[in-house]
Amino acid sequence: MVVGTIKTLIIGASGMLGSDLCKVFPDAVKLAHQDLDITDRKQVIESILKIKPDVVINAAAYTNVDGCEDNRELTFQVNGYGPGHIAEACSKVGAVLVHFSTDYVFDGSKKEYVESDIPNPINVYGHSKLLGEKKIIENMDDYRIVRISWLFGIHGKNFVETMLKLSREKDTVRVVNDQFGKPTYTMDLATKIKEVIELEPGIYHITNDGVCSCYEFASSIIDNAIPCTSEEFPRKAKRPKYSVLVNTKTELMRHWKEALEAYLRGRNI
Ligand SMILES: NC(=O)c1ccc[n+]([C@@H]2O[C@H](COP(=O)([O-])OP(=O)(O)OC[C@H]3O[C@@H](n4cnc5c(N)ncnc54)[C@H](OP(=O)(O)O)[C@@H]3O)[C@@H](O)[C@H]2O)c1
Repeated sequence: MVVGTIKTLIIGASGMLGSDLCKVFPDAVKLAHQDLDITDRKQVIESILKIKPDVVINAAAYTNVDGCEDNRELTFQVNGYGPGHIAEACSKVGAVLVHFSTDYVFDGSKKEYVESDIPNPINVYGHSKLLGEKKIIENMDDYRIVRISWLFGIHGKNFVETMLKLSREKDTVRVVNDQFGKPTYTMDLATKIKEVIELEPGIYHITNDGVCSCYEFASSIIDNAIPCTSEEFPRKAKRPKYSVLVNTKTELMRHWKEALEAYLRGRNI
């Protein structure tokens, strides 16, 4: 498939990742939440049948991990059944679907996870995203499920911006030193999707390279972070302590530190 001659539809176009996908795919048809509610099966199928895309990229999701614990029904509708509706429609028009899932489908006990590892989520968000993966696989063949982690991007409320804000407001910022992952810049990921479209159907783990704790990540952004444990910083949803996605299928992206520098340079322009 030659990118540029194909018709691409981006769903969830005004989210953090969706906005950068719109930059990488400027000619795509772009639908934000107000244009298309992915929980509405009829609307999803009608829209996709009308647009007749070659490729659908779904960046829509309910992403408030702690909020998911209190809004179980909505979470499963958006993150679980919504992708199933999109997959059903993609199958009808013969479109490729690129969909985003998460390291939170894993429990963190194995530390590093390859694409074929068996998921075992420990929070509502993780369960709902795993259901989304299953519903896609049930409904179509030509999918790329891209598991990603710890996103930061210019168009969203993200860890980097939270740290910068807290650093300005407080003398010290406590950050957990016992949760590990792979920070990923949405612009790098969005660019990589051009390549993903050309790959075989399947599940992919795609992140920036390198592993760090939240504290290490914070210390690369601000100079007044101090380490604490997860027990000292309780959250509503349990988080896997070490959920590192290992990419065994595609070329690695640059290191997260380099990506972070690019992000910080970009926000100062
Ligand atoms: N952020 C991370 O660290 C992270 C980590 C791993 C995986 N992911 C996955 O990456 C993808 C993109 O995440 P993101 O961080 O860019 O999320 P985001 O900024 O929260 O964007 C999600 C978008 O989905 C829209 N949306 C919510 N419910 C919808 C519905 N029923 N129908 C249509 N659109 C709906 C939201 O619109 P409203 O705001 O108007 O509701 C928002 O624009 C998601 O699949 C997420 O699960 C993210």
